[in-house]
Amino acid sequence: MCSRTGVLHNYSLIVSGFVMARSNDPSKHASVRNEVRQEARNAVRNDGTVDALVLKSVQEIGRYRILEIVIPARLVPQNLFGKFVLARCAGLASGSVRSNWDAYLRRALFVIGATPVPGADEATALRFLVPEAADPGYDWLTRLSPGDSLNFLGPFGRDADLGAHARRLLLVSAIADAPLLIPLADRMLDQGGRVAFIVRGPSADRSLLSLLPLDVELHMAESDEQYHAFLGDAMRWSDALVVCESAMSPRELAGEMQKHRLSSEYDYAQILMRADYVCGAGACMACVVQRSDGSLTRACVHGPVFPLSDLLR
Ligand code: FES
Repeated sequence: MCSRTGVLHNYSLIVSGFVMARSNDPSKHASVRNEVRQEARNAVRNDGTVDALVLKSVQEIGRYRILEIVIPARLVPQNLFGKFVLARCAGLASGSVRSNWDAYLRRALFVIGATPVPGADEATALRFLVPEAADPGYDWLTRLSPGDSLNFLGPFGRDADLGAHARRLLLVSAIADAPLLIPLADRMLDQGGRVAFIVRGPSADRSLLSLLPLDVELHMAESDEQYHAFLGDAMRWSDALVVCESAMSPRELAGEMQKHRLSSEYDYAQILMRADYVCGAGACMACVVQRSDGSLTRACVHGPVFPLSDLLR
């Protein structure tokens, strides 16, 4: 839970009817802490869903908005990469109607960072990236304000296994998915390693890259020629690789492995697969991912991060 991104870490905030603002009044700070603690204690409902307090809906980054919520610290997974929640996109925010089912399916939101809330050990602020898309669910999420409530299921998802000895991490993604890899970059930098990041494809809007940790070595590959030049060198340099499917399919990744590694070290490479999520519990099959042999696996249970070897059998 590192704070390298420097975007959302100004926590001199108050809760006043859940709306937070700056204050120098110590008694107000104590009241804030008490209220955040109370929220954290009461968050989990009998049906297993969680009601979170919206701490901030701040900062438009290109076509995205960062949403920050407070949840009980005990619910925050140790490693954040690959973790997502399924958010209910109606019913609890101020001004909306409980019977509104326009966006009846929950929307998946991936965690891009977490920070303890000062003075409230029981609470942690989680950050998500919400696309400004032509979708009623995401549209609802982008209109949340500080003090609103957000009901979600989760967190779900399996993390990448970097192994105990990896110190040179290569990340590859299209620009829109780059923030999803932030928790992994933070972790490697925190443990003293190095991170190289290849962003593949047109990058007219580079604002999302401002979220990346400063110590990441960034390579923009706007042409295929640039991409293959960066990739070959970086694959030979690195001892762990994590790729978003938005940049490279499992088959393409396997081909690059054979070109640039001495042997088929498939455990070296992991891939974050795209999927649709509905239940998060392995029941609905909305998130199935196909392996190269035609068999199916569920991303919410076994992913969304898979060792390349799992997908190539
Ligand atoms: S989201 Fe329902 S089975 Fe994976």
